[in-house]
Amino acid sequence: MLTKMLTSFTLALLLLAVILPLSTVSSQRTDGSSFSTFGSQGEWRLLQASIGISAMHMQLLRNNKVVMFDRTDFGPSNISLQNGLCRMDPDDTVLKSDCTAHSVLYDIDANTFRPLMVLTDTWCSSGAVRADGTLVQTGGFNDGDHVVRILAPCDDDSCDWVEIPGYLAQRRWYATNQILPDGRVIIIGGRREFNYEFYPRSSDISPSSTNSLNFLRETSDENENNLYPFVHLLPDGNLFVYANTRAISLDHNLNRVVTEFPSMPDGDPRNYPSSGSSVLLPIDDNNGPVETEVMICGGAPRGSFSMAMRGSFSRALATCGRIKVTDENPSWAMETMPMARVMGDMVILPTGDVIIINGAGSGTAGWEHGRNPVTRPVIYHPQAGPGTGFWVMGPSTRPRMYHSTAVLLADGRILVGGSNPHVLYNFTDVNYPTDLSLEAYSPPYLAPEYQPIRPTIINVEGILGYKQSFSVTFTVSRFLKQGIVSVRMVAPSFATHSFGMNQRMVVMRTIGVLDVGPNTHTVNVVGPSTAEIAPPGYYMLFVVHSGVPSTAMWVRVQ
Ligand SMILES: *[C@@H]1O[C@H](CO)[C@@H](O)[C@H](O)[C@H]1NC(C)=O
Ligand SMILES: *[C@@H]1O[C@H](CO)[C@@H](O)[C@H](O)[C@H]1NC(C)=O
Repeated sequence: MLTKMLTSFTLALLLLAVILPLSTVSSQRTDGSSFSTFGSQGEWRLLQASIGISAMHMQLLRNNKVVMFDRTDFGPSNISLQNGLCRMDPDDTVLKSDCTAHSVLYDIDANTFRPLMVLTDTWCSSGAVRADGTLVQTGGFNDGDHVVRILAPCDDDSCDWVEIPGYLAQRRWYATNQILPDGRVIIIGGRREFNYEFYPRSSDISPSSTNSLNFLRETSDENENNLYPFVHLLPDGNLFVYANTRAISLDHNLNRVVTEFPSMPDGDPRNYPSSGSSVLLPIDDNNGPVETEVMICGGAPRGSFSMAMRGSFSRALATCGRIKVTDENPSWAMETMPMARVMGDMVILPTGDVIIINGAGSGTAGWEHGRNPVTRPVIYHPQAGPGTGFWVMGPSTRPRMYHSTAVLLADGRILVGGSNPHVLYNFTDVNYPTDLSLEAYSPPYLAPEYQPIRPTIINVEGILGYKQSFSVTFTVSRFLKQGIVSVRMVAPSFATHSFGMNQRMVVMRTIGVLDVGPNTHTVNVVGPSTAEIAPPGYYMLFVVHSGVPSTAMWVRVQ
């Protein structure tokens, strides 16, 4: 089923080659069909030359606004706080009185932004959106390392950060968060923290309120290489945790390592500062028992961070590993990307493909440690055979190095921001000046020539509950009888340091598609099987017709 759906993208391309008048296309492909550059390589747009801060962390909220922040001890940013406010912070390492903002709320539809007030240092922190759509962000550096900060979405200009000082039992700097089936957030690791804890916490802080995780101690080498561990919630309720070269499945309730998976065969580290990226490939709910696969791409050879400190920048890793964690004897299948990449962001597209975007061709994460920006994204088709899955896309003009981010938007574009490899904001006399801009990358499926087969969601009827059927009605100008319709949900991720925390796609079980009017169709589907497959919360629901996605409608799974 999944194979059929994903090859449908290729099918759509072939059909379009027949349908479309040649005047709309400009380039010739080797298979004889023709597409515009947009239709084969996508398109970059500058949205804002400056949002005033560098988007080191990003989270899309259910009202199509994106909260972004960098760090408080960066010195003055390029955007003032509202109403002449200033932040007085005796603990700030750079500026005790700062009248500039270090967080903004970006409104996608209006393409506008406003400053937010963050009080304590959010540098290299983590986050997750809870079932009610509220962002819970945890930790950071200095005076912020034990703080929890809450941002509830609002449709006017009333919302801002609310901070809970001293909430966390341990310092959480470079930790990873994951939303759990019961609605709690687990916060795993952080620099020199070989343990995890939960939000909300169950009782008052005591040493016993954190659970030790020796795996994190064991995977720390002389360059660490295990920070921001890659964490994915698996359909059996356990957590896949990847650090350095090793992977386990963790029962976080019993504090027990359930499985140790084989190590990645090449022996090179994949986590910060050798930052690769990781995704849980789309979970298809059409045929139970659910197969689950993790894919990790890029990183830097062992020792690269020490070498970068000495001014020598080793070539990044060009390999990806895929592991089907639900297999009886899982093993890594290796793939080679068209180019080496460290600090790339892997983002799941509505089609179920994975885009790898941002980053560098050599060096590592860390101050001044990256070289050779990789400005071309690649799109990976998970269903393609080994060695044939990667497509190279068109380049951006802007290097997106250390501290850059990327998230999927409801309209199918990728929002890209950040890049600041310097201790402070630095716009002059440096290789890669601090970037305050925002760009959107539109993958080929958004090209105008696909407009005739692009579905538009009209409504979603029924309750989006577990195992409950509901229907999605959409229009499309040219319904392809041979095409395939599928409905998928994507959880919006918290993006920082090359990892999209909580990112997941669930392909709904399809019961059937009915023609209900001129160019109007209803697809009947079944909600996710379990909260382990899709934890309660807000998701972007996409209809994909012959490889071309609709704009998503936000839905709440409960
Ligand atoms: C700072 O913001 C102003 C507009 O408010 C803009 O003209 C300028 O280019 C920005 N600086 C940088 C370095 O982006
Ligand atoms: C930016 O970096 C350059 C080169 O290291 C340095 O000379 C300059 O002082 C830095 N500027 C700021 C504002 O930190």
